[in-house]
Amino acid sequence: MMAHPAFASVRACVFDAYGTLLNLGDLSRGFADALGDKTVPVMDLWRRKQLEYSWLRTLMGRHADFWEVTGDALDYALASFGLDDPALRERMMGAWLTPTAYPEVPAMLDRLRAAGLKTAILSNGSAPMLEAAVASAGVGDRLDAVLSVEAVGRYKPHPSVYALAVDHFGVTPGEICFVSGNGWDVAGSASFGFKVAWVNRAGAPQERLPTGPDAVLTSLGDLPDLLGA
Ligand code: LAC
Repeated sequence: MMAHPAFASVRACVFDAYGTLLNLGDLSRGFADALGDKTVPVMDLWRRKQLEYSWLRTLMGRHADFWEVTGDALDYALASFGLDDPALRERMMGAWLTPTAYPEVPAMLDRLRAAGLKTAILSNGSAPMLEAAVASAGVGDRLDAVLSVEAVGRYKPHPSVYALAVDHFGVTPGEICFVSGNGWDVAGSASFGFKVAWVNRAGAPQERLPTGPDAVLTSLGDLPDLLGA
């Protein structure tokens, strides 16, 4: 099958982890009973603060790993909702170590690799977080590499993070298809020079940033066709 023209030179497919391969919507399954109708607003605020803190720390030159940033964001979110429960906090943090993959992910990765494409994760997650997450999601042996921002001590969308994938595979940015479900990560990776596929499961509007995706998918199941795999 022919690849979409924008992706014709692609040799490696690099994925964002959380919200792209790993289902963030499923993260609350182990503690939603405790939060009840606050589950969705707490989760939304937690994720938003987690990302804000990652960007702010990179701008401030004050890096801390994603586990610490995630914990700080959770403390902010719990305080915002008047919640103070150390056991619940521990349960919620643990969810980042036991995520599930979106159901189409294993077969999609198998198809890419059968077509000779390399596969990797490039994530904000620290190495221990990613190791646990990849094992929990059952995708470890379908990935050629799991790359963490910890190698450069900055967070996405800093270009030095995206450069980790280029350096790892020894290819040009245009030979990498970067796949993310996060609109801001799509803009950042496209600005770096990757060919970018946005998995827009929720039908979100496009970010108003200078660069955008080369293709938009509603599910990762459509990725092999896009790449001619
Ligand atoms: C990651 C975050 C951005 O996996 O979802 O890098």
